[in-house]
Amino acid sequence: MKTITISTQFTIYNDINELPVAIQNISKHAVQIREKAYAPYSKFKVGAAVLLENGEIIVGANQENAAYPSGLCAERVAIFQAGSLCADVKIKALFLSAASELTTTSTPIPPCGACRQSIAEYELKQNEPIEIYFMGETGEIYKSSSIKDLLPLLFNKNLL
Ligand code: THU
Repeated sequence: MKTITISTQFTIYNDINELPVAIQNISKHAVQIREKAYAPYSKFKVGAAVLLENGEIIVGANQENAAYPSGLCAERVAIFQAGSLCADVKIKALFLSAASELTTTSTPIPPCGACRQSIAEYELKQNEPIEIYFMGETGEIYKSSSIKDLLPLLFNKNLL
C-alpha cells in the first residue's frame, strides 16, 4: 500500500486591478452577463466569460428550469457556445463571477464538478491549458493556471 499526495496551486488576487488588462476586461463581461442569468429558483446568478486566443469573448449565464436538473451552469453555457461557434480557436481563459440575490457572496465561487469535467474536455482537446479565474460578487479572485489544479485525476478519453 502507498499513499500519494497531489498538490495543486492557485494564485489569489485581492483586487481586479491586479489582474492582466485582458482579464480585467473579460471580468466586466462576466459581471454584465451575470445580471442576465435566469435563476428564479436559486436566486444565485453566475456569469462566465471565455477569452479566445484571437481576442474574441464569449459569455454565458446560468439557465435554470422548473425541472431542476434540466438547467445549465454559466460555465457550460459559455464554453459550449465557444465550442460551437469557434470550434478551432483555442480558449485562453475563463472568468467566473457569482452573486446571490439573497446574500452578498464575498468568497470565490469555483466551478462545480460537472463544469470542471466539461472544461477539462476542452483543455485536453486544444492541448493547451485554460486559465480559470473565479470570484464571488466582491472579494478575492482565485486563479488556477489549468483545470488540472481544480480537477486532479481527471477522467479523460485516454481512459476509455
Ligand atoms: N451554478 C453555475 O452556474 N455554475 C457553477 O459552477 C455552480 C452553480 C448555478 C447553477 C444554478 O443555476 C445555481 O448556480 C445554483 O446552483
